Amino acid sequence: MIAQCPPLDSNSAYCNLLQCTHFADSCVIAECDGAIAGWVSGYRPPSESDSFFVWQVAVASSARGQRLAGRMIEELLDRPSAQGVTHLITTVTDDNDASWALFEGLARRWNARLDKSALFDRDIHFAGAHATEWQARIGPLSRSLSRPSGSAASTDSKQGETAI
Ligand SMILES: CC(C)(COP(=O)(O)OP(=O)(O)OC[C@H]1O[C@@H](n2cnc3c(N)ncnc32)[C@H](O)[C@@H]1OP(=O)(O)O)[C@@H](O)C(=O)NCCC(=O)NCCS
Repeated sequence: MIAQCPPLDSNSAYCNLLQCTHFADSCVIAECDGAIAGWVSGYRPPSESDSFFVWQVAVASSARGQRLAGRMIEELLDRPSAQGVTHLITTVTDDNDASWALFEGLARRWNARLDKSALFDRDIHFAGAHATEWQARIGPLSRSLSRPSGSAASTDSKQGETAI
């Protein structure tokens, strides 16, 4: 699914398996009619544990435009494992309009600020081979503000799965 969602970077199968085991509390899969429709991976950075880092967000092209990405992120923030999270952080390249629209929309919806700063620079960190990754930092988050009633996707009893 990641491979079908450019411009996301593909990671090794080993990395994806670690996400699904060690980081299952902070990752979610959305299913529609038995097929995977969406995936969000994230974690709380050890050095910044009041933040939730959204690593990759992927929505199948057939499932786009239904706020699925935002609903998966809200599902993750709604879990007991996200207790104490005050900020959502992520990185986005300048040309990813859909991703900026997603995170700017979430900041508006949560009535929170979005601060943008360069995190990984094209020349300094990527030797010119990858566009600069800008950090978007959204917060402070209020748990009640972040989840207007009826907004969150329902959670299946099996950890890590969300029904849409
Ligand atoms: C980015 C992505 C996850 C959004 O998923 P989605 O569930 O379709 O998003 P939503 O329906 O919640 O739309 C979010 C916002 O983006 C806007 N949007 C969606 N596609 C867009 C596009 N191609 N260009 C500009 N805006 C776009 C929507 O209008 C919406 O804006 P609004 O809240 O102001 O109405 C999906 O397009 C995707 O998988 N893209 C490829 C992978 C990627 O770039 N992931 C993000 C980087 S981590």
